[in-house]
Amino acid sequence: MAALIGRDLLSLADLNSTELQELLQLATQLKSQQLKLRCDKVLGLLFSKASTRTRVSFTVAMYQLGGQVIDLNPNVTQVSRGEPIQDTARVLDRYLDILAIRTFAQEELETFADYAKIPVINALTDLEHPCQILADLMTIQESFGRLAGLTLTYVGDGNNVANSLMLGCALVGMNVRVAFPGGYEPDAGVVEQAKAIAQNQTEVILTNDPEIAVKGAQVLYTDVWASMGQEAEADNRLPIFQPYQISEQLLSLADPEAIVLHCLPAHRGEEITEEVIEGSQSRVWDQAENRLHAQKALLASILGAE
Ligand code: CP
Ligand code: NVA
Repeated sequence: MAALIGRDLLSLADLNSTELQELLQLATQLKSQQLKLRCDKVLGLLFSKASTRTRVSFTVAMYQLGGQVIDLNPNVTQVSRGEPIQDTARVLDRYLDILAIRTFAQEELETFADYAKIPVINALTDLEHPCQILADLMTIQESFGRLAGLTLTYVGDGNNVANSLMLGCALVGMNVRVAFPGGYEPDAGVVEQAKAIAQNQTEVILTNDPEIAVKGAQVLYTDVWASMGQEAEADNRLPIFQPYQISEQLLSLADPEAIVLHCLPAHRGEEITEEVIEGSQSRVWDQAENRLHAQKALLASILGAE
């Protein structure tokens, strides 16, 4: 079992290549029920943004491990009344065994992790969404039986999902291409990190040309054009992002065996067409299911479940 006992997961780059692959293997064993693990621990969910998949999959994963979950909606805690993060972290630390946080600034998550002695998991920030990428890589591995050497093309906004995908692909030896409109590029620091991990052994390509980017790719991936917190910009972004829609025409340029992923929730008719998300190459429902198995593996590994 992957030895992540007591560790935080604030960025996907907190894992090395071996740890990530062991985690994916554990997730696969848990999914097939080849392995059953138990741990009698309490997980807190402190989410300042909406969530369906992450909230429910973490909750069910913890229940299936025999643990318990407390949903710490900021609106019903003192967090929304401005209690300092440093104080909240040191108090929750005394009650909980592990904490998953969904918030805006990565720095806020890092402050929490600095002040809480218990493990802290990034359940999405503006910078990264590492738990999503665990499920994505698991889904790709299920579809192709391997990861190394495959090419994933992300088309759309250079957001949290794009950032973590670049890190994840580099860690497992996949080529990654990101196609985005000018001004909407992924985080420069994360790009450098991904390139450092890839060490010129695999591609980390950034481009404004979606057609060149998808050519021959085995995995096409997209996400919303305006993330949580950017709702006010959504209408202005529509014409800018239109050429970056995953349509049947764009998909036809990829490898004929290509699969299509989307972290969900999706805006049909914007970043992806109805035909593609409901089409035979879409794996989005398996991908959503795998959030449960991947996060169960993560929790089990950090908490030392047996
Ligand atoms: N993909 C994802 O994180 O979904 P939720 O926002 O519903 O958790
Ligand atoms: N990029 C999206 C992902 C949602 C799961 C957001 O941050 O809103």
